[in-house]
Formats: sequence, structure tokens, C-alpha cells
Amino acid sequence: MKNEQYILAIDEGTTSVRAILFNHAGQIVGQAQRLIQQSFPHPGWVEQDPLEIWNNTETVISEVLFQTETPPYKVRAIGISNQRETTVVWNRKTGQPIHNAIVWQSKQTNELAQRLKDAGNQDLIQQKTGLLIDSYFSATKIQWLLDEVPKARQQAEAGDLLFGTIDTWLLWKLTNGHVHATDMTNASRTMLYNIHTLEWDQDLLKLLNIPSSMLPTVHESSHFYGYTQEFTLMGVQIPITGIAGDQQASLFGELALEPGMTKNTYGTGAFIMMNLGQTPRLSEHGLLTTIAYGLDGQVSYAFEGSVFTAGAAVNWLKDQLKLVQDVTETAEQAQTAAPNDQLYVVPAFNGLGAPYWNQAARGAIFGITQQTDDKQLIKATLESLAFQTRDVLETMTKETGLPVKSLMVDGGVSKNEYLMQFQADILGTEITRAPLTETTALGVAYLAGLQVKYWPDLATIKEITRTTHRYQPHFSVTQRDARYAGWQRAVQATQLFAE
Ligand code: G3P
Repeated sequence: MKNEQYILAIDEGTTSVRAILFNHAGQIVGQAQRLIQQSFPHPGWVEQDPLEIWNNTETVISEVLFQTETPPYKVRAIGISNQRETTVVWNRKTGQPIHNAIVWQSKQTNELAQRLKDAGNQDLIQQKTGLLIDSYFSATKIQWLLDEVPKARQQAEAGDLLFGTIDTWLLWKLTNGHVHATDMTNASRTMLYNIHTLEWDQDLLKLLNIPSSMLPTVHESSHFYGYTQEFTLMGVQIPITGIAGDQQASLFGELALEPGMTKNTYGTGAFIMMNLGQTPRLSEHGLLTTIAYGLDGQVSYAFEGSVFTAGAAVNWLKDQLKLVQDVTETAEQAQTAAPNDQLYVVPAFNGLGAPYWNQAARGAIFGITQQTDDKQLIKATLESLAFQTRDVLETMTKETGLPVKSLMVDGGVSKNEYLMQFQADILGTEITRAPLTETTALGVAYLAGLQVKYWPDLATIKEITRTTHRYQPHFSVTQRDARYAGWQRAVQATQLFAE
């Protein structure tokens, strides 16, 4: 349509940044993507350059507008979804980051997290933030930057430094330093935000010795954050009206808006989220309680099971083991592998997340025989994603009493046919895959669009028709439980080795 306007979603993930234009029907009109370099200064540390993230973001915005011949005035609003927890600290006067961004997977603050645990803070932190103490979250990363970067603490105390997750950093750059803010979903991943009072928690800031002047203002996920001030947008100021951490954005994009509705995004990691409605509850078995979204004066909560290694294990088959040239080949290889082997790969490359939370665990392979070949290794690696998902879903069902009738899936690896069928088989649950695997970007586009009435209300969004792909389970209960029991023994043995 000639005069149609669009919503521009910026999806800044762990490995790449994308700009995607959506139309009223929630369809992709155009997209551009740039990879983000990862640096590994020490084993287990993962860092990225915040300026590269910003430059690539500018580039993909320009590219998508150029490719689709969309003048900036046709962009009704911008939404930002982002890899969560990844921490940037920069100087508010110069705009220069004081160090690389410390990525969510990075383990350089394991010791700081352990110290917090040893001092008996777990219950306090879980009650306030819904999280379990871990180096995954932003809090110990900020602490580390203030302690390790020369003069950082002094500058922070003088009010010269700002902290942000990637959404905050991009928002600050897009508004040319005018807006220092974040949304509740991102704030809820810092381990500093009280998910009940909806404020930065002063007790925790004191405990971690972090000056509150560094912290961004927190708003709902669908909110008028400010106008773009900068650069490529040819003097046109576009409102930025949606922000959400990428996993929450995909929950929203799946329209998993009722309690019990559950999604799994298979990206670098796998992030399984169950909507809990407006009442937060705390897990006794390793799940996180997190803010799902803040919209129209109401806050919705979710249980999350974060699995650290999912798509990263499939990439390992390609990049390190060179078993395939392209990850898409893994489905066919697995399909033609000998079906009755008992091979298990536990891809604990960066420790184990939910429900185990074992930072020391490392990957292991069990059940190798003379017949074991590359196809079986590929198959077992894919299956490990499904087993890890079952670990989390069983815990969710146990804790909430809410059965998962259908698991909604998205993310790059959800295109893998072998994995999706095996996922249905091992869960004994139907899997529904969204027509668009770009559900994260769509979710934040919805949040941004709702704020400017591009879509007048949620009901309008729910009416947009989607044909989902479904996978039905075929395993018998005995078959499914026998395979899962083998996985459980493999995870147990992996953890024993780590001790
Ligand atoms: O918590 C980390 C998560 O937000 C990263 O997501 O999609 O970049 O793997 P992704």
C-alpha cells in the first residue's frame, strides 16, 4: 500500500543485530542483519564492543530503509528487543564505554557471585528480584567493572558513569544521549530490581556497592521513551515506544498472554517461559521469576528456565567439529542416523542453567560404542536441546500445577524438523511453531505499535491470522520415559565429574 506506515523492530541478539520492518498484518516487509564480533579474553569470558553494536545498529537501520525504499517518515515507531543482562558502563560526558560489554554468558564474575551466595544472600535476593544468584545477571558484572577498570569507582561515585543493558545503550545513542532508560523486563534481569515494588532495590545496591546514579529510569515495555535525534533518519524524529528483553518480547510475539501459556525460543541458548499472570511466585526448583511485560498499568510475570547452550551446540557441530557445512544439514543427518543408539551429549559448555545452576559443569558425551558415528553425534546433540527443555517444563508443571498443553516454539533452531518432532515425542506434548520465526522482533513491534495506536489494542493484534505448524507426539510413555531416564543419568554423571 502506497501510504502504509511500518513499525521498525531492532533485535539486538547475542550474535547479530537485525532491523526488521513490519506492516499492519504483522508481516516482514524487509530486514537487514549484521554480525556482532565476540571476544574471549580469557577462557569462559565473553565480551563485545558496545561501539560496534551501535555502529552495526545504525547500519542495519539504514540498510532496511534503503532496501525497501522506505523514507523515515513512514516508520511510525521503533521497538528495541535485546540480548538481556549484557552490561555496558559508559561515561555520560564523553559517551565512551569504559570497557567492553560483558556478555550474559561470561563467567568472569563467578567468584563474585559465589561470594554473595556464601554470605547467605540467596533467599533475600530471590525474594526481592525473583532470581538466583549467578554471574549470568548484570549485578556482579557492574560490580566487576567498577572494581577492575582503573578509576571507574571514583567516576561512578562522582556521577559520571551510566549503566545500561543493550536496550539502554542503544536508546541513549538513538536519542543522542538524551534518554537514559530501560523497561521492566530488562530491569528484572539485573538482580538489582525489586519485582514487587517495581523500583531499584536500595538494599541490594548497598550490598553490591553500586551507586544508584548509574541506573536508568524504568518504564513499562510499551511506553513513549523519546524521539530519535541522530543521523541516518534524515532529520525525521521517530518515536521509540517499545522495549523488551528478547525472551520476553518473543513471549509477547507468541501472544502467550494467559497464565500457563508457555514458549521456548531456541537461540544461542534456549529460553523457556511460562506466563504466570499478575501474581509473581517464587520457584523452589531452580526457575527464575521474571517480569514478562508491563502494559497499560499492569505487570505480568513469568517463570523462566534458562538453558545456556542450545543453538550454540548445533554451531559447535559445524564450527568446531566440522561435521556439517551448514547447520540446516543436521536435521537430515539426524533423521538418517541409526535410531536405537543410546548416545547422550550434555552440552554444558558454560555450565548448566535451569534447573541445575551448576557453573562448574562442562560438556560430556556418554554411551560411545564402536558403531558411534558423526550422524549419531549430530542426532544426540540435537536431542540434548529437547531433553533440556523437558527438564525445565517438568519443573514448571510441578511448581505451578499448570499442564503445558501446547508448547509454542520459535527462534532459528525451531526450523529444525528432526528436533521439533523429537521435542514433541520426548515431552508427549504438541509443539506449535509460529509462521514467523522472528517472533522476538514481532513482539517488540507489537509493544511499540500499541503505544502509538498503530494497532489500536491487543484484540486487533489477536485477530491477525496466523497458520502455525504443529508437531504431534508419537512415542509411547515407556519409550519417552526410558530415553529421558538415560538423559537424567548423563546429566547426573556430568555434574559428578565437575565436583
Ligand atoms: O538472557 C540472554 C538472552 O536474552 C539471549 O538471547 O537470543 O541472544 O540467545 P539470544
